[in-house]
Amino acid sequence: MPATLLDGKQVAQTLQMEIAAECATLFRERGVRPGLAAVLVGDNPASQVYVRNKRKACEKVGMTSWLHHLPADTTQEALLHLLKQLNHDPAVHGILVQLPLPKHIHEATIIHAVHPVKDIDGFTPENAGLLAVGEPRYIPCTPHGVQQLLLRSGIALEGKHVVIVGRSTIVGKSLALLLLRKAKGCNATVTVCHSATKDIASFTRQADIVVVAMGVAHFLKAEMVRPGAVVVDVGTNRLPDGRLAGDVDFDAVKEVASSLSPVPGGVGPMTITMLLFNTLEAARRQAR
Ligand code: GUN
Repeated sequence: MPATLLDGKQVAQTLQMEIAAECATLFRERGVRPGLAAVLVGDNPASQVYVRNKRKACEKVGMTSWLHHLPADTTQEALLHLLKQLNHDPAVHGILVQLPLPKHIHEATIIHAVHPVKDIDGFTPENAGLLAVGEPRYIPCTPHGVQQLLLRSGIALEGKHVVIVGRSTIVGKSLALLLLRKAKGCNATVTVCHSATKDIASFTRQADIVVVAMGVAHFLKAEMVRPGAVVVDVGTNRLPDGRLAGDVDFDAVKEVASSLSPVPGGVGPMTITMLLFNTLEAARRQAR
């Protein structure tokens, strides 16, 4: 029997309705409308689409959003100056600097310049550290989206063996820290594989849940999946013909897995939704 699809679009829609209701309550009771400032440097077409979708989602749930679109030759100093202004602007509760940045800008310097309470990506050392010690303030959006997609699709994580393929700070490493937490909706046994792992298939075949975030189109083949396992695809790869492809060989893996997230329509909409979740939380914290 082919896999059940993990419908990120549907789960995201439900979550966004809950967030919209909470935004309305925050405005009614406190006069606060959550505000997100998006910073985009240069003309990376994929980044432009991501930022546009994030802003559209903000408007949909009743948040304010601003776009600071700077030219590709913006200096690091000019970008730091803008972040300083946004850090001090009381209408801005969340700041999102879309990555990647142009090569002449030192990404870590920019990330570290965002005020940790406005860091709704959860990328600053303070917020990354809080997640690492098991007391997260803002959980990075993609890992949080993966967790919520599973939980809200009725897939428990407690005691499960989750094998993550990919160790990026934004996805793989943060997801490992999240699912390791001794907390409700977490408590998994976690294995992280990466580009230097020998025989990745020998690990993925042991998994109850495989999460693939390698950035390699169609990387996970059917023979790498234990029959009945759950598979989550975090990949967004652009094929030469312009189509979007995940990191999972979808047509083959869907014959083996019990549940599988599609690309598009799986993790993508969840990532955007968790950004809204964090922006709401940031507004609440700053309204105190
Ligand atoms: N680029 C790719 N993923 C992300 C993300 O989650 N946040 C930001 N700011 N940039 C990204």
